[in-house]
Amino acid sequence: MAVKFDRLLYGGDYNPDQWLEYPEILEEDIRLMKKAHINTVTLAMFAWAKLEPEDGVYDFDWLADMIDRLYENGISVILGTPSGARPHWLADRYPEVLQVDEARRRQIFGLRHNACFTSPAYRKKVRDINMELAKRFDHHPAVILWHISNEFGGECHCPLCQQAFRDWLKERYQTIDEVNRRWNTAFWSHTYQSFDQIESPSSIGEGSIQGLALDWRRFTSHQITDFCRAEIQALRDAGAKKPATTNFMYNYPLINYHEMARVLDVVSWDNYPQWHHQKEPVTAMKSAMQHDIMRTLKKEPFLLMESSPSSVNWVPVSRLRKPGIIENASLQAIAHGSESVLYFQIRKNRGGFEKFHGAVIDHYGKEDDRVFQECCQVGDDLEQLSRMDLGRVESQVAVIYDWENRWAVEGSCGPRNENMFYKETVEKSYYAFRKLGLNVDMIDGTQELDCYRIVAAPLLYLFRPGFSEKVRRFVENGGYFILTYWSGVVDENDCCVLGGTPGGLMDVMGLRSTEIDALYEGESNEMVSVDGGKTYTCEHLCQLVKPSTARTLYQYGKDFYAGTPAATENVFGKGKAFYICADAEQAFYDDLYADIAAQAEVKRVFAQPIPEGIAVSVREDAENAYIFIQNYNAQPTAFSPDLEGAEVLLGVMDGEMKPFSTVILRKKK
Ligand code: GLA
Ligand code: ZN
Repeated sequence: MAVKFDRLLYGGDYNPDQWLEYPEILEEDIRLMKKAHINTVTLAMFAWAKLEPEDGVYDFDWLADMIDRLYENGISVILGTPSGARPHWLADRYPEVLQVDEARRRQIFGLRHNACFTSPAYRKKVRDINMELAKRFDHHPAVILWHISNEFGGECHCPLCQQAFRDWLKERYQTIDEVNRRWNTAFWSHTYQSFDQIESPSSIGEGSIQGLALDWRRFTSHQITDFCRAEIQALRDAGAKKPATTNFMYNYPLINYHEMARVLDVVSWDNYPQWHHQKEPVTAMKSAMQHDIMRTLKKEPFLLMESSPSSVNWVPVSRLRKPGIIENASLQAIAHGSESVLYFQIRKNRGGFEKFHGAVIDHYGKEDDRVFQECCQVGDDLEQLSRMDLGRVESQVAVIYDWENRWAVEGSCGPRNENMFYKETVEKSYYAFRKLGLNVDMIDGTQELDCYRIVAAPLLYLFRPGFSEKVRRFVENGGYFILTYWSGVVDENDCCVLGGTPGGLMDVMGLRSTEIDALYEGESNEMVSVDGGKTYTCEHLCQLVKPSTARTLYQYGKDFYAGTPAATENVFGKGKAFYICADAEQAFYDDLYADIAAQAEVKRVFAQPIPEGIAVSVREDAENAYIFIQNYNAQPTAFSPDLEGAEVLLGVMDGEMKPFSTVILRKKK
């Protein structure tokens, strides 16, 4: 069941624990929050030292007082559990909580997000405090959601984690012989005689068994997920009823979020785009794809848990957000299915690592401040939108972005070891659909395909068990499937498919991949349409294929494989399968996907082309479509879509959109 709140949540992380000696500031903060239409704050994630100043001694009164005061002022609370950063005394007393790195060095106390996720002592201390927090606060009417820890991540190679890894492998494979077979350990004579010999990958140890590396990734992801599950269980065991989330990160590699999402009631995530580094429409597209990944994890509304209302402080160069960008970025989250816009943070810290990170309230502390004014504007927008039910995001097309594939394709040694550009390749498919104004689901290899008209699977080196059968049925039944180079190469243990690739799909694609050429940086080839009318460039990787039933759409223009297929299509059952042989430029994807969308009779919001830099996304309920049109160009952009029957809910629609501006329309379906 989707978690529903009675309004769009607006606000962010707030750290009163750093301001307890400044009661006048805490008072003023509430006044300023109300002024900015803030209705929700996230509390106490990093307050463990204040909540449990000594082992087993809890002090929650300051927090209770804060929650009461927020509630009196109409502000809801997302309550953190504090495991993201532990107090000094805890590490001193239970040194096993300190992580061990891959070179087997144990850390000393410092920083945050660096606990061992296996340590029974840590799990116990976290369970205890979570239960105390749940007993004291879950019933409070201000508390609407639990925020488990913070930005889970990292990995620990301590002896406890090694043993847990071995137990996990035993459960998965049962015998050591099966492990040897799955990982092909006969290679370099690395055969294991017993589970006790297995060690996690290390720069001073094993680095050649890629099946081991892949399972270590699966295990660490599993172990963190299990830690998160145990944290939630502690709340439930203490009687907590409120839903729970944890904040995911932008393209974070080490956790398979599809699995972690299952232990959560609602998905939330932190978005910190590097605005004004690349062209803004490109940055917007990258964020949009991450929003869609988060939405598709549960196929339910999600929350934007953190974003910056101005700059950040942890990149080499922190540019200010230009006027309008924060409003656009905030409404983009809503357009893609978020039920919140939350910032890090409400008030800028006085000292420590984040004292120059953007915040709603500056050190200056007053409201005549550019960032504060923009935050008021966003708050006002959200208040207006909260008055209606914006419905959900539905998609007719999907792109596969798969964590296990990512670990395998990036961890393998193959045609390119510098960069396989997996994410960038996926983004090209995503962007091509988005430019048509289509919503896109971002699925992994385990999700169902039958609910889509078109599914694109870029650079899908590893096929999950059962994947090729699923694709076969999808295409047979009339689906349109797009696959690219270097796909279906290995099984789930990163061992090569025998008898030809793409594994299990040679007849569906109507071809066999034969060899793959890797190009040096700066080199390129051409993809020329068979009628000679269109030419695109490609780089990095060029797959050579031998068609059986596939029809060639494009041919390579250069090198010894000039004239051989560079893109193909194959009719299979009632559907069609397309194969893109090389890392083509964006324009190739744009044109091909427009063509495929037309063939697949995908419904589009606007019949006319959407200008470059304008993003269109749709939420819908039974009666209405809510169309978000966003200009990410730094200059005014002409756009006159067909507005018949549409009502403007927000912004101005007069044929030209202002730089960094949003228009929201409502249209009867
Ligand atoms: C992350 C963390 C926050 C804060 C911000 C700063 O998202 O969750 O605690 O450190 O980064 O950008
Ligand atoms: Zn450990």
